[in-house]
Amino acid sequence: MNKLTSQLSLLEIEESLEAKISNYQVSKPLGFGTQIAPVMAKAVYEDGKWGPLEMTACEAFDIHPAMKAFHYGQQIFEGMKAYRAKGKGPFLFRADQHAKRFNMSAERMAMPSIPEDTFLEAVTNVVYRLKEHVPQEDGESLYLRPLMLATETGLHLSPSTSYLFLAMASPSATYFSPGKVSALIERTDARAAPGGTGAVKAAGNYGGSIRSSIKAKDLGYQQTLWLDAVNKKNIEEFSGMNFFACINNKLLTPELNSSILPGITRSSVLKIAESFDVECKEQDINIDELVEAIKSEQCTEIFACGTAAVISPISSLGEKDGTKYELSYKHEDLLWKRIREELVGIQLGDRDDPYSWRSLVSF
Ligand SMILES: Cc1ncc(COP(=O)(O)O)c(C=O)c1O
Repeated sequence: MNKLTSQLSLLEIEESLEAKISNYQVSKPLGFGTQIAPVMAKAVYEDGKWGPLEMTACEAFDIHPAMKAFHYGQQIFEGMKAYRAKGKGPFLFRADQHAKRFNMSAERMAMPSIPEDTFLEAVTNVVYRLKEHVPQEDGESLYLRPLMLATETGLHLSPSTSYLFLAMASPSATYFSPGKVSALIERTDARAAPGGTGAVKAAGNYGGSIRSSIKAKDLGYQQTLWLDAVNKKNIEEFSGMNFFACINNKLLTPELNSSILPGITRSSVLKIAESFDVECKEQDINIDELVEAIKSEQCTEIFACGTAAVISPISSLGEKDGTKYELSYKHEDLLWKRIREELVGIQLGDRDDPYSWRSLVSF
């Protein structure tokens, strides 16, 4: 192919991509993560280096059944959001932190790191192309899903020599429908063990949590609350969110360890709460002591936080025999609400951004 022909075919690919984007229509209700936008960023790692980042159609492609990601789980991902509202944005929130965590996941799973600039260019480019499709109603956003998978074919257990990086998007509504969330205290299964992969976003962590989520749903709960794998005594987190409890006017969250994901929302919540002069403590939270604090009403609020769920109050914790520990939320001036308003205000560009968490997507 001579240079002119290859430039022409690149032009055709670009035109067909632009046509796909301009013809793209989301259907309502949006749901969460169910509608996949037609464009994605892509880069291939081979011979010890990353190739160029390309923008391409997000559609089915050929994969060999012996690809290592299918067999041995070298597969990581991120979850982040772009926001647009009231004529402002699109904004990314703490995208640099997501890039860093992606590489922490890569390191734990013996996968190659990707230059942070490449990661950021990928998500920025996807958001820019989809700027007219970032939904703008209350709670809506463009959910972004960067991922990396091992693509070498072969059935021997060894690190892959080739990888694929993709960044796709899904115009989405809120993760939980309005109303409070109840969580099952998981006393049998474990999500992640010390020294395992729980502190990173390895796909297998989530596969291992699905059985419990089915059990929780069957019992009438919306979420699983995971305890430490060894003694099943200390609270770790929810399947896709970190845990906070307000006890005696102190905001408590489990201290990070090798089995808890260091949530970017979690660190934002701590910063915001401190700016409100709320005393915050990262420490072990024993489940039996927490239950007692709920019963004695010393525990006044529990909430889950994460990119997808933002900040969601927990109405009750419960056991598999149906015993429930309900929180009353009867006092005024709920902390979860104040923190959420500040966080969402920063994300949407409605409030000052003293920590420089927000970045405008423009080229
Ligand atoms: C297991 C787990 N915990 C916590 C979180 C919250 O993390 P973040 O606030 O960075 O979205 C997530 C979501 O990424 C998660 O998957």
